[in-house]
Amino acid sequence: MKVIIDSSKNIASRAADLYEEVLNRKPDAVLGFATGSTPLELYAELIARVQNKRISFQNVTTFNLDEYVGLEPTHNQSYRYFMDHNLFQSIDLDPAKVHIPSGLKIGQEELDAYEAAIAACGGIDMQLLGIGRNGHIGFNEPGTPFGALTHKVRLTESTIEANSRFFATKDEVPKEAVTMGIRTVMNARRLILIALGDSKAEIVAKTVNGPVTEEVPASVLQLHPDAYIFADEEAAKYL
Ligand code: PGA
Repeated sequence: MKVIIDSSKNIASRAADLYEEVLNRKPDAVLGFATGSTPLELYAELIARVQNKRISFQNVTTFNLDEYVGLEPTHNQSYRYFMDHNLFQSIDLDPAKVHIPSGLKIGQEELDAYEAAIAACGGIDMQLLGIGRNGHIGFNEPGTPFGALTHKVRLTESTIEANSRFFATKDEVPKEAVTMGIRTVMNARRLILIALGDSKAEIVAKTVNGPVTEEVPASVLQLHPDAYIFADEEAAKYL
């Protein structure tokens, strides 16, 4: 694992450099995106670089990590809506090449089809990750087998609590989600995990220095051959 500690602004720029490098090398790269507060600065930086014509997503295919079960794509807390508004509408991406798990069609057939679509594109070149306070990556909560592929999950109380800040009431937070599995994530050729802020400090220390265990899903990154962990000073304070 390559652990990089820097300001959130510099992290956005250094992570964007990795996108620039991949896109220069492979303009039709397959990129895995993530939602949450963490990637917002990076997404703003990617939008700026598209506007400055430094990078183009014209030939890129994307796969998102996860989606809430039960939310229409137009719901303002769906991850489809988040991606459209925070990145996709502002870059030169072909909407036909965007993949986000459906939160409405959640049968085994659809879950298998998501894996098949990733495989059909030749696999993910670079997958972006946030990290939950409990160590989840995507919505792979503690205890998820490392061998899991795209599947439906019940969200833990900690995740529902953390995400309730985006909903009017905690009761409105969906209790289930569809997520790429740990194996789906680990199959990506490069991983970029970004952790910002004090609330991530303990779990970042466990992820980087603790044992590799399904109880800390992000700890599996220790086993990945090309994983970057970017942490700001607050998130890195126990390293
Ligand atoms: P956050 O979420 O970026 O909003 O902290 C990260 C996550 O739960 O994976």
